Amino acid sequence: MSILIINIKQLLQIHDTSVLKVSGKDMKILPKIENAFLHIEDDKIVAFGKMEDCPSNLKATRLDATGKIVLPAWCDSHTHIVYAGHREQEFVDRIHGLTYTEIANRGGGILNSATVLQNTSEEALYQQSIARLKEVIKLGTGAIEIKSGYGLTPEAELKMLRVIKRIKAEFPLEVKATFLGAHAIPNVYKNDKKGYVDLIIKDMLPAIAHEKLADFIDIFCEQGYFDLEDTDKILGAGKSHGLIPKIHVNQFNAFGGVAIGVKHDAISVDHLEVLNEEDIAALKNTNTMPVALPGCSYFLGIPYTPARKLIDSGLPLALATDYNPGSAPSGNMNFVVSTACIKMNMTPEEAINAATINGAYAMGISENYGSISKGKKANLIITKPIPSYNYLPYAFGENLIETVILNGKVIA
Ligand code: NIG
Ligand code: FE
Repeated sequence: MSILIINIKQLLQIHDTSVLKVSGKDMKILPKIENAFLHIEDDKIVAFGKMEDCPSNLKATRLDATGKIVLPAWCDSHTHIVYAGHREQEFVDRIHGLTYTEIANRGGGILNSATVLQNTSEEALYQQSIARLKEVIKLGTGAIEIKSGYGLTPEAELKMLRVIKRIKAEFPLEVKATFLGAHAIPNVYKNDKKGYVDLIIKDMLPAIAHEKLADFIDIFCEQGYFDLEDTDKILGAGKSHGLIPKIHVNQFNAFGGVAIGVKHDAISVDHLEVLNEEDIAALKNTNTMPVALPGCSYFLGIPYTPARKLIDSGLPLALATDYNPGSAPSGNMNFVVSTACIKMNMTPEEAINAATINGAYAMGISENYGSISKGKKANLIITKPIPSYNYLPYAFGENLIETVILNGKVIA
């Protein structure tokens, strides 16, 4: 057994294991211990407390984090980190005045990424994806959800999901896989959306379930993509194969998708840049976590998810990167936490809660991740020496993470 003891200036985000998410006013609280110790055995947190109560007789490796802050590693519950190629030309086209929708309508966007991915080998896709993954681990991400959805054919969707499975087997961070076959309508089905929905339900889903390649089922519920009826059908079909629903919803338009997600007991509803009173009402007293993706709003110049409205009405909120080649080409959770404070008026406490425990909840893993709790996995961030945790979102764009610990081991 390996034992690791860390001496810490401030240990953040301490919760009883029974706390699986935080909502409303509770998000303003970030339980902490000053001058703390943290005791890790193998991959688990076994004890913590005031430094003066630190066991001194243990044969342990000791790590000195005096002057530094320790918090749970980020839990990024929404990414498309497995993709092929880049879309920087579309970025320049937007600077010249085209909108995201105009670019998509002329063959760019998701369909552009799908063509590139279909022509990329599984090995090359893996290599491109892990280059990004290694970067986000260094930036403090300890648990990540990864979606398919740039394949849009049975072969290419399975290729993406196998890459995700390989990442899960070969990397120390926690990985959850989502099947997002309903991300866009491929050109060959342009005039036969029903045909594509059938292909997803009758062909892709059974194959994916058979190979146990996904935990979640997702759909892009949006004008020009998939409507309420498609969403209802696909979430229902996913559930019948044992997948848990999640949705991309209310990115550009609000037309009742949130309520469909809630009806299917979705674990999360993501984007929510456009949100009305009915959506808020639909989310109250449910198990569904609203997820905001500020990197996408920043990059596309669309509205930010109204975090204050959600939290002030008593709801929880999670923050994730949406790391993808089209609308958010960054997987930096530190930037997301900063942007949530700067642009969405979230307090540092709310943003850190949203990026840890609530992110873990949105992946169904908050029993083991997302807070400093006895028995949870030792997935941790140790900061550089900083004056207070408020400094993390304040000093935006600066990398303040010195060490990342995953499963109790220091990651180089
Ligand atoms: O979550 N909104 C839909 N899907 C992605 C973006 C897809 C793309 O542009 O490649 C998102 O923002
Ligand atoms: Fe997304």
